[in-house]
Amino acid sequence: MTGPSGGFNAAFVPFRSEPAPRLCDFRLSQSRFLLMDVLQHLREATRSQHESIEARVDVLRPDLTRAEYRRLLERFYGFYVPLEAALAGAADWERLGFAFHERRKVSHLERDLLCLGLTPTGLRALPRCSELPSAAGLPAALGSLYVVEGATLGGQLIARHVKPRLGLADAAGCAFFTSYGADVGRNWRALGEFLRAQLRTGADVERAAGAAGDTFAKLGSWLARGQERHDGT
Ligand code: HEM
Repeated sequence: MTGPSGGFNAAFVPFRSEPAPRLCDFRLSQSRFLLMDVLQHLREATRSQHESIEARVDVLRPDLTRAEYRRLLERFYGFYVPLEAALAGAADWERLGFAFHERRKVSHLERDLLCLGLTPTGLRALPRCSELPSAAGLPAALGSLYVVEGATLGGQLIARHVKPRLGLADAAGCAFFTSYGADVGRNWRALGEFLRAQLRTGADVERAAGAAGDTFAKLGSWLARGQERHDGT
């Protein structure tokens, strides 16, 4: 939730509109609202960048072709390979109690690309992004994590659109966009709890929001460069 200066205000707890809570409800209720504040702040802080990336990704057209879809996944691959590697080393996820390895999506991208006709040699030869968001410090890593995890939400919508049009299935060309299957909501809520537990101060949340914005920006530029290469502009 934003304060007058637009910054994160961890003290915001909108109890006023609630019926008088019982004492035993208090902690649960408070943590729920504070959890909403962290995610809500990240969402608000990156709203315009999400809109830009949504326009850039542009896969909801009825005339989308398999070749265009594959090119998009190739660019995601070129971004996610180095980003996931950087994030893997950015924190001791196991000690923090977060199963980072279960959140990795590069293997989904590989499966999709092979299904769409790329060879293993072609996969290895794909260009990889070298201008990554900084994952230095846990809040920054969590900001990037927020972005790549949030993409699984929009991914459901994208999957529903592309599967029938391109003749794909979850395990045949659409594994990336359907990454978590029926667990997508549960995983998103678990991420929210984790962010809430780790981003303890307003400054941490601001750092995470900055890194989330940077992640959207770097991914956007990377996708744009891919389009330029293809269009020859
Ligand atoms: C055509 C492309 C995209 C569409 C149509 C789309 C659509 C959506 C939708 C509908 C949601 C909300 C889902 C819900 O509330 O249940 C969402 C959330 C989100 N998406 Fe996207 N998305 C797209 C691309 C991306 C990409 C490429 C990324 C980043 C790599 C991304 C990051 C996020 C994030 C971080 C959220 C969570 C926002 C929050 O805090 O609630 N999206 N997207």
